[in-house]
Amino acid sequence: MKKTILVFILIVSTIALIAEDGYDLWLRYKKISNTVLLNQYKKQVTLPAVIGSSATTATIKNELSKAFLGFTGTNYTISSSVNNSTAFIAGSISSLAIISAVVTKEELSQIGNEGFIIKSKPGKTIITANTDIGLLYGVFHFLRLMQTEQSIINLNIISSPKLKLRLLNHWDNLNRTVERGYAGFSIWNWHTLPDYIDKRYIDYARANASVGINGTVLTNVNANATILTKSYLEKVKALADAFRPYGIKVYLTARFSAPIEIGGLKTADPLNDTVQQWWKNKVKEIYSVIPDFGGFLVKANSEGQPGPQDYKRTHADGANMLADAVAPFNGIIMWRAFVYSQQSNDRFKQAYEEFKPLDGKFRKNVLVQVKNGPIDFQPREPFSPLFGAAPQTPLMMEFQLTQEYLGQGTHLVYEAPLFKEVLNADTYAKGKGSTVAKVIDGSLDNHELTGMAGVSNIGNDINWCSHPFAQANWYALGRLNWDHNLSSEQIADEWINQTFTNEKKAVAIIRNIMLNSREALVNYMTPVGLTHIMYNGHHYGPMPWGNTLNRPDWNPVYYHKADSVGIGFDRTSKGTNALAQYTAEVSKEYADVNKCPDEYLLWFHHASWNHPMRSGRTLWNELCYKYYTGVDSVKSFIKQWNSLEKNIDGDRFKQVNQLLNIQLKDAIWWRNACLLYFQTFSKMPIPANYEQPDKTLEYYKSVRILFAPGN
Ligand code: GCU
Repeated sequence: MKKTILVFILIVSTIALIAEDGYDLWLRYKKISNTVLLNQYKKQVTLPAVIGSSATTATIKNELSKAFLGFTGTNYTISSSVNNSTAFIAGSISSLAIISAVVTKEELSQIGNEGFIIKSKPGKTIITANTDIGLLYGVFHFLRLMQTEQSIINLNIISSPKLKLRLLNHWDNLNRTVERGYAGFSIWNWHTLPDYIDKRYIDYARANASVGINGTVLTNVNANATILTKSYLEKVKALADAFRPYGIKVYLTARFSAPIEIGGLKTADPLNDTVQQWWKNKVKEIYSVIPDFGGFLVKANSEGQPGPQDYKRTHADGANMLADAVAPFNGIIMWRAFVYSQQSNDRFKQAYEEFKPLDGKFRKNVLVQVKNGPIDFQPREPFSPLFGAAPQTPLMMEFQLTQEYLGQGTHLVYEAPLFKEVLNADTYAKGKGSTVAKVIDGSLDNHELTGMAGVSNIGNDINWCSHPFAQANWYALGRLNWDHNLSSEQIADEWINQTFTNEKKAVAIIRNIMLNSREALVNYMTPVGLTHIMYNGHHYGPMPWGNTLNRPDWNPVYYHKADSVGIGFDRTSKGTNALAQYTAEVSKEYADVNKCPDEYLLWFHHASWNHPMRSGRTLWNELCYKYYTGVDSVKSFIKQWNSLEKNIDGDRFKQVNQLLNIQLKDAIWWRNACLLYFQTFSKMPIPANYEQPDKTLEYYKSVRILFAPGN
């Protein structure tokens, strides 16, 4: 008897630890190990029915059969009709009287086109919505409850997304390289499209729908006009058809000079009639192929891209021309504010300087898409001063999931705390509580058109994102898009439960690593408000000495300004006065060197090496402390992760373990290189109680990355 139990335990534990490659993301649908819950689940989903005959309800049926089989080990047939024994019903409200009997008109009016309602009592579960897409979201929510092992009796959930455009931005080129991509090549195989629909396209759509992402920009913002030609549009149509049942719309990047490059015109001047007509015709052609095409994302007059300023026109002229072309089809234009022409003395100020005067000048179907910070996706940035400063323009948030400046494919960095820090920041645009979240969800200035995009971290690597933990950033983008009030911790817990384990101790350890990971990275890369001191070009590794590029604002020395007096960029009224772009309340918080929060100090001040910090340390000693703490955090992540060997399948355990060891090496490289370099200015010792750098500054200056992916 004892032997049988032992064998049983052995079998169970081997099953639990079968190697996983990460392809299934957070949709693994593993057997429910808690038997009480398993019995409850079985009861709640007895004789399941999905009502409706759309392509979306077909996908719902597939998803439910897959999930229920995974959770219970039993095959379920999903019926299309209801009888007395049906315990689980999913159907949009129009389909059945038993559904309309349990939800009120008032509840339905709250959820719009994409929200859902889940109600349950012992032995009966009803999921409903105004549309089948809403229903799909409700079903995924329900499956999440089961994957995270929560009780599903007595549910009364009414949920709808806070933002309208919940998008991924792929920086994918037509030759399948991915700008700043660290997870292999593009998942879009333009060569085999439109005839071959890779299973990945469907699994991509499932994953997105499961977190509420409802749109994808397929192509790089550094755009190629070829995507707008007939044969490519056929390929785009094939993707749009594959994604449609999952509620995902397709968008493209528009190269501003396309009328010249593929249209044979002599100009792309947005005020030229022929150019305007060319775009109108092109847009008509696109909609004839893809009737629900979403619209265009445009990078113009930025980093060498063509744009309206080439013809002495404004961003509004350019955006409005495209907006007029897509308006008859309900399309939208997302016009990026990532611009930094060298006209002013501080790159920080340039996006605001160009876009603030255009507030109120854009058509109704234009959103201006703003990166979270004023520079470029750094480990920590203050929020972009455009948020709150353009009340007449819907501003869309752009975060970067791909970790261009955050350790790329090798560092474990959970970005939700970064996203939340920005969303929770107070702009004071309409008094206290005017958070960035309220700017982008439209509630502050009454905008209907709202959105948030994440620059995708997806490639054709088997596990999609290369680092097993990078998947969490894709997941977090979707969840925060749906509800920016969710906490980083809640999202981490959901993701861990679904991706790794429900075992409480293991979850606590992984959560702890995740929640501390971003701050650790800030500490070993750019503490106390340092910024943009990474290698030129590929942006991997430290290069604070970098000073060789023609544009000053491409050189690290421009950003830290270290000298014998101190370090940091003076953006007060004595410096570039960038602080004046914020409301008085915000700029007041940052303007006084003695009151400025430590984490932003060097963003706004050139502080002396002896500047007293809140900790009681001098600035120099604080820098040392932070760099050393960052490295220590990674050491502790390794220790914590290694304690999980029995909880995580062998392949993923080993993968993360190896990556963490690379991260540790890199963190030490960052710490030593930066401190040795800054020490040439401070002339102060690294406190003796720290392990001293074992290599010279000359050595660190000579380090080269031989193969840097993603640029
Ligand atoms: C960064 C990045 C570029 C990208 C640009 C953008 O500068 O390094 O690769 O094209 O951002 O957001 O447009």
